[in-house]
Parts: sequence; C-alpha cells; structure tokens
Amino acid sequence: MQKRDVLVTGKAKTVYTTDDADRLILHFRDDTSAFDGEKKEKLTRKGLVNNYFNAFIMQKLQAAGIPTHFEKVLGDDEALIKRLTMIPVECVVRNLAAGSLVRRLGVEEGLELNPPTFEFFLKNDALHDPMINDSHIRTFNWASEAEVLQMKDLTFQVNVVLKRLFADAGMLLVDYKLEFGRFKGQVLLGDEFSPDGCRLWDAATRKKLDKDRFRQGLGGVVEAYEEVAQRLGVSIPL
Ligand code: TMP
Ligand code: ASP
Repeated sequence: MQKRDVLVTGKAKTVYTTDDADRLILHFRDDTSAFDGEKKEKLTRKGLVNNYFNAFIMQKLQAAGIPTHFEKVLGDDEALIKRLTMIPVECVVRNLAAGSLVRRLGVEEGLELNPPTFEFFLKNDALHDPMINDSHIRTFNWASEAEVLQMKDLTFQVNVVLKRLFADAGMLLVDYKLEFGRFKGQVLLGDEFSPDGCRLWDAATRKKLDKDRFRQGLGGVVEAYEEVAQRLGVSIPL
C-alpha cells in the first residue's frame, strides 16, 4: 500500500490517501490536545500506544459484529483503514457521570447512570463541539433518520462489548465518544477508540487512567494508557 498525500491533519492524527481510492492510512501522532485544542503537548510513545490499543479494540468490536473502518496495523504508529465519508457528529454514551455532564447538570462525579445516557455533539472545535439532538441532525442534514438510529444502536452495542471487556480487566468504562462514517451505503465505526476519547477508572480505587490525566495535569498520562493496555493484554513494542 503506497502512502500518497495528507488528506486531513487532526489534533492527534494525520490521515493520508493511498494508491487505493477506498483505503486511507491513519497516523497516530504523539500530539495530545484538550479543550478543543487549547492545551497541547507532545507525549512520547502516545501515538504508538494508541495505534496498538485502537487496533485491539477495533478487532474486538468487529468480532462482536460491529462494523468498523479498521483493516490492519501497518507500522508502530500507522493503520490501514477504509475511506469513509465522515458524519460530522460525535456520539457519547455515559455509564457514570463525569466531565461536561457534571458541569451541565450539577450532578456528582461518579454517579451511576442507569440507564446509560446518549448524547450527540457537533464536531466543530471553533464552536466547542456544542451538544445537538436528532432534530438538529435532520434539519441540517448531517445524517439521515436511518443513520441516526444506526449510530445510536451501534454506540450502545459498543457499550455492551467494552463495558464487559474493561470490567474483566478491573476497570470502569465511564464514558466514550465514537464517530461514524459512510462506506458503500453502510454506516461504519470510524476514527479511533483509545484512552484519548474515553474515560476509564480503576474499578477499586477510581484512579483515572485516561486523557483526564492530561486535561487535569495529573501527570503519568502515557504510563496510564500503557497500564490499561497491559491489563487488557494488548502487546505494545518497547
Ligand atoms: P465530555 O464529558 O467532555 O462531554 O466528554 C465525554 C466523553 O467523550 C469523554 O470520554 C471524552 C470524549 N470526547 C472526546 O473524545 N472528544 C470530544 O471532542 C468530546 C466532546 C468528548
Ligand atoms: N478532543 C478534544 C480536544 O482535543 C476535546 C478534549 O478532549 O478535551 O481538544
């Protein structure tokens, strides 16, 4: 697979075109960003850790029948993916209250959410990813009604698979964000799943093992990501 041109440069990943019009290369960089790009830092090994972590999770999801764009790892910080037409919304499911839910609703961090909540956000850093609903998605034609239903359904299916996977490794899946895209008429899970886009706590101590360590300046960011990977049995080159 020949790498061609830069298609998109995101805050933590770069996407390249290839000689196959239906395939892209996803490069996981060490760049780490929070608060819609306001706080930025390079964290050594983060790209590599997230690449192997994402590959492991995407394969688990695929094995559980959730269609994803992931094809294979190409190198330490690169993966081959299907070329999706991205739907510009972020799908968030929460099992425990944290982050913006705590700020918006004034509930206590760690409150168990039963049933889990589902939220859509518009992917737009300049507007700080505002919360939107199904009605906005239809009015502005960001996705069809069927796609809205599929994104919600798939996001909840991911919860069933991953809540169990992390629980078996002694962790709580607090919340996570997914992005979807279209490929030959089908809605597939795109983007990535890594500790950059979810919250994970140690089940016993509630120690934060995700990007909140970076957001809140707690230190040990990549060390925490590697601990999560190690607990799940993801093998990451030294
Ligand atoms: P929030 O509490 O800030 O709304 O975030 C909920 C979850 O979604 C959390 O795991 C972080 C993730 N997320 C991202 O990865 N990127 C984003 O742009 C947003 C809004 C949330
Ligand atoms: N992913 C967004 C950013 O990098 C929001 C966040 O994680 O805080 O700025």
